[in-house]
Amino acid sequence: MCGIVGYTGHRQAYPIVVKGLKRLEYRGYDSAGIALVHDGLHVYKKQGKVSNLEEAVLGKNLDGHIGIGHTRWATHGEPSDRNAHPHTSQNGEFAIIHNGIIENYASIKAELTTKGYSFKSDTDTEVLVNFIQDIKINNACTLEEALRIALRRVVGAYCILLVAKDDPETIIAARKGSPLVIGIGKGEHFLASDASPIIEYTKEVVYVNDYEIAIVRPDELILKNLGNEKQTPFITKLDMEMAAIEKGGYDHFMLKEIFEQPQTIFDCLRGRLDAEQGHVVLSGIQKYATQISEAHRIIIIACGTSWHAGLLAEYIIEELCRIPVEVEYASEFRYRNPIVHKGDVIMAISQSGETADTLVAIEKAKEQGAIILGIVNVVGSSIARLSHTGVYTHAGPEIGVASTKAFTAQLAVIMMIALVIGKEKGTLSHDKYLQLIRELAEVPEKVKLILQQNDSIKALAEKYKDATDALYLGRGYNFPIALEGALKLKEISYIHAEGYPAAEMKHGPIALVTETLPVVFVATKDSYHEKVISNMQEIKARKGKIIAIITEGDLVSPTLADDVVILPPADEIIAPLLSTIPMQLLAYHIGVAKGYDVDKPRNLAKSVTVE
Ligand code: F6R
Repeated sequence: MCGIVGYTGHRQAYPIVVKGLKRLEYRGYDSAGIALVHDGLHVYKKQGKVSNLEEAVLGKNLDGHIGIGHTRWATHGEPSDRNAHPHTSQNGEFAIIHNGIIENYASIKAELTTKGYSFKSDTDTEVLVNFIQDIKINNACTLEEALRIALRRVVGAYCILLVAKDDPETIIAARKGSPLVIGIGKGEHFLASDASPIIEYTKEVVYVNDYEIAIVRPDELILKNLGNEKQTPFITKLDMEMAAIEKGGYDHFMLKEIFEQPQTIFDCLRGRLDAEQGHVVLSGIQKYATQISEAHRIIIIACGTSWHAGLLAEYIIEELCRIPVEVEYASEFRYRNPIVHKGDVIMAISQSGETADTLVAIEKAKEQGAIILGIVNVVGSSIARLSHTGVYTHAGPEIGVASTKAFTAQLAVIMMIALVIGKEKGTLSHDKYLQLIRELAEVPEKVKLILQQNDSIKALAEKYKDATDALYLGRGYNFPIALEGALKLKEISYIHAEGYPAAEMKHGPIALVTETLPVVFVATKDSYHEKVISNMQEIKARKGKIIAIITEGDLVSPTLADDVVILPPADEIIAPLLSTIPMQLLAYHIGVAKGYDVDKPRNLAKSVTVE
């Protein structure tokens, strides 16, 4: 969360930085700001989206070949012009942008206040920039040295960029816990929180590591550790195309990403699952396959939508691999005192690969001897690098803040992992193995069929858009999918929604049922189906409005439901990959019908790099 962009080179910096901020706006949109160096330091900032900043700077001097920009997701201090980044040091000599949280900012602030510093904002970042100023003055040292000294005192997470009034060439950057990518051009460098602002200009990038400082000039990139020792930059080639980060004719990224799913699921399976030969090969985990299959326990760590994928993984892995699985919220796991045995497998699931809670939780488990298996979308991200072994989801950049295609790719990877481990362990019969491979290979085509129902789901959205609450119910493999459906609706339409195991509903939530309450049943044909039908009866008896997601050929559910969405048949283990699609579309269309910005829902950010 918070997006940062920097440029130093032969071109005008402003257009590059602003375009980059727009690409990173999914990381936060509470305010945006920019600092340019050209005959002094020019800082412009504005509450709200990047477009507000663009309006605010009309007619201003935007000259300069070096610039840094920030799009904010508020942590310390409300969204406002005053709290927007960049923040300038009190002596006006340099400007900083920051993604992360300085946890000990209060004690540093108190120290600076006694020295006569005053603060214009409520942010931890303004404290940091003045701390650096204070160190620079007291030690009569360079800005780089002052930053190094400051970072040794700072507790927390950061990716920061600094520019100085009297240096129209150099950006100094540092990272710990928040991502930073540097693009290498000819006589120019690009800095950003992820590669999307960079790929337009170069595919050669360096991922900066924690505790590294980068001194970046048009023709020079120097990396050092906090001990001032030079590090060799490791140059990677980006495997990403521009089309992947553009809307491609869709009204919103979220809709584009929902519609990309036949392709993204296909890409995820490609080269791994071979239906003709009847095998799954995951080269990423091959080396660890025996250790994983012999593990006494798998602990899954994730947040949000990725946690829902983890919950489904528990059902599937316990069924096919007979290994006990626990699913933990990363934010809980990291702060309690969990028991982790050497050889336990920690499965970390994360789209961004940068979620702070997940990252710290797996660092903690790794210290205790666990094997870390990452299921990550963003190649080269922190969680991917921290993992011993892993499988990329290959869903491509997900820009819509609400996760859709990354979720289905996570599910596809989880299913493949369960197939590999179940086979290795011998807990999965060969026939079942082959059947699931065949069915998994058919998923992209089945998703295409479901997407053809977009218009009828849009009509459902019109019908139910004014609801104030909704219940999502499912059993077994469909329970995590019900949770995910409710989360999607909450995020995008701001309608209060709860997901429950369908049977659990009678232990409390049933009190909410009235004739105005929509209840979405994930009721595909599976071993729980009869029971789910009984739960539908219970809702119908209380006059709740039932929307049922059912399997083709189900003749009973339509007699109970007010509305149905019909899915192609699939094995119950594979069906979640299908049943989640209509719920994504329903949430999307309700959000649009209510006039909300579905790609940037209020208060949210894509990559949650603060705890
Ligand atoms: C919801 C959503 C979030 C993320 C969560 C974890 O649509 O996107 O709940 O799933 O913030 O993010 P990652 O997967 O990047 O670790």
